[in-house]
Amino acid sequence: MIRLKTGSVMAGGVQMENHLILAAGVLGTTGSSLARILATGAGAVVTKSIGPFPHEGHPGPCFCEINGGLINAMGLPNPSKDFLTELDTLKGKPVIVSVFGGNPSEFHEVASWFKGRVSGVELNMSCPHAEGYGAAIGSDPGMIEACTKAVKSLGMPVWVKLTPNVTDITVCGVAAERGGADGIVAINTVKAMRISTDLMRPVLGNRFGGLSGPSIFPIAVRCVYELYEACSIPIIGCGGVSSVHDVVEMMMAGASAVQVGSAVIRDRDIFASIRDTLYSPDGIPAEEIVGCAHG
Ligand code: FUM
Repeated sequence: MIRLKTGSVMAGGVQMENHLILAAGVLGTTGSSLARILATGAGAVVTKSIGPFPHEGHPGPCFCEINGGLINAMGLPNPSKDFLTELDTLKGKPVIVSVFGGNPSEFHEVASWFKGRVSGVELNMSCPHAEGYGAAIGSDPGMIEACTKAVKSLGMPVWVKLTPNVTDITVCGVAAERGGADGIVAINTVKAMRISTDLMRPVLGNRFGGLSGPSIFPIAVRCVYELYEACSIPIIGCGGVSSVHDVVEMMMAGASAVQVGSAVIRDRDIFASIRDTLYSPDGIPAEEIVGCAHG
């Protein structure tokens, strides 16, 4: 097994303690849960997505487990600006705030609340089940570019989280890069649904949701691989990562850092176990493997 050299990491303008990042949406709603994930080995954490208005989210059920993954349709529940107080105990820690909006000025406004309070901003342009937000913005390259540019004008590191639910994800990655993004996060969940054969109705209250977990890992690897060939900014791999082997594979596809999401639900200590296997003082520099699978 390849081992990487121990030490801090810079990716997409953000200084982190290692290459492993908590993905948005999982245990990211309170300062104490974010602190706990950092204490158990994550190199950085991304918060739950915060938007321009407080929002309760979709009616339940919001979540269902399937073979090889989970489907969620939370509907971007969030306390909006009140989330700031959750960051009080995390000063100086590698925290990235996930934000969403319905247009460039909403993205700009929400991101501006966090200036000086976080290490960077991740733009959620990829939630597959939020009318007017998420993938509704992130399927339009012109909007991706304009929203990214609006947030970048605040002078903070900006990552853009992309949806795989498009014909060609590289068009979206190139648009983010044109807008001035410091990094691309690939991928958010894959639009999905289940139907209860007993009830003869969709399982989720919102009917559609986003599939995450091991079943989407090969889709995420393919997207990272394609983006690496099309873009020159760092890519942060995300989607179904659940082992040290997955982290190494993502990096070989082209990821400079890797997010872990659904796997944390089953194993709260997953960051520590991946970190302890991945790093060694006499390991190789990560640059030797990032993108090495390309011709
Ligand atoms: O529904 C949600 O809160 C999920 C957001 C996302 O997939 O980005």
